[in-house]
Amino acid sequence: MDVDASSLPIGPKGTRWPGWSGARRFDAGRPGPRSPNSRGGTIRSHTRGVDVPALSWLELPAGPAVQLLDQTRLPAEETTVTCADVPALIDAIRRLVVRGAPLLGVAGAFGVALAACRGDDVAQAAAAIERARPTAVNLAWGARRALAAYQQARQPAGKGHEDHQDTERAAARAALAEARLIAAEDAAASAAMAVHGLALISPDARVLTHCNTGALVSAGEGTAFAVILAAHRAGRLAMLWVAETRPLLQGARLTAYEAGRAGIRHAVLADSAAASLLAAGEVDIVLTGADRIAADGSVANKVGTYGLAVLASHHKVPFVVVAPMSTVDPDTPDGAAIIVEHRPADEVTRIAGKQVAPGGTSAYNPAFDVTPPGLLTAIVTEHGVARPVNAGTLRVLSAGSCNAEGPPADVYVER
Ligand code: MRU
Repeated sequence: MDVDASSLPIGPKGTRWPGWSGARRFDAGRPGPRSPNSRGGTIRSHTRGVDVPALSWLELPAGPAVQLLDQTRLPAEETTVTCADVPALIDAIRRLVVRGAPLLGVAGAFGVALAACRGDDVAQAAAAIERARPTAVNLAWGARRALAAYQQARQPAGKGHEDHQDTERAAARAALAEARLIAAEDAAASAAMAVHGLALISPDARVLTHCNTGALVSAGEGTAFAVILAAHRAGRLAMLWVAETRPLLQGARLTAYEAGRAGIRHAVLADSAAASLLAAGEVDIVLTGADRIAADGSVANKVGTYGLAVLASHHKVPFVVVAPMSTVDPDTPDGAAIIVEHRPADEVTRIAGKQVAPGGTSAYNPAFDVTPPGLLTAIVTEHGVARPVNAGTLRVLSAGSCNAEGPPADVYVER
């Protein structure tokens, strides 16, 4: 994700944010260390050549508003959608103008800040944002964090009219600061995941990935794609196989776009070609992101992930999920408890706006599926690696130290 000048954190495009000195660890539930990011500046994407920030906070006079790179139009054009109120932001979230779990967390928090700056009913706005998409837990998590910051800053209110206005302004600033902090933490988590994930990549690796997990979905370099980039920079990546990711083609449109701009050797394949590719021994590891990880290690991710995990298991190829701790949801006990978003039929019956199925054909269109923990080799987070994947190893990571200056987390193994 990029966040633009008037708005958020960071240094020049392609650089790590100031203050970053390696694999820092943050507990998503607690504020991380304040960096220059949390005070202002610009977050810059690491996706070379993506010129428009994925998400920008616009101050007055252009704002307050949240400006989004319209991901539905990529790769053909880089255009933006400006959301001056929460209904506009919710519409953009539902249409996937902004998407991907970590960036949805950031967008949810900025949405709450937007409501606060506008003097809207902030609790109501946060609840509406949470409902916009049900599966990616980061959306509700980000909205709730910004709401909590807003409500806490309002505590001393109620003396007089002027005091009340001052308090409201301070509370709006607190919500905005929290949104910026979430972005900064996500950038840090992304870099830490890259470090931990790289340890799992062998030389000359041929990686298969699904959906889109790069800078377009994150304040940093992303989740699985951050590991892919790290492997590429380390000279360990021989080939990136990109599953097209029907029906909305996040792989073919967005991951191929990011891979191309990063100079990564890659090829797009039809989702249904993954089976024969794995059977041919052309894949050394499968890397994906996640939209919600239940307490037992079940992973909800873009539809098609479960099928890939079954195939990988059959062909004895490691299947690794990369996601920040903000995607781990201890309140969802298992995969059965994950709500899977179902989307409109025309996403399946039409391709690029053109009707391909006979008019009136109904469709089965779950946006996600759930992969049970037994099919996963490991889950990589900013706190370290859960391997094997189960409630115990995830609990260890959830309790993981948040020592910002510490060395990279260990690989936790529970036998
Ligand atoms: O429906 P989307 O495009 O928001 O899908 C979510 C995703 O981008 C993927 O499932 C991804 O693998 C997890 S988020 C990095």
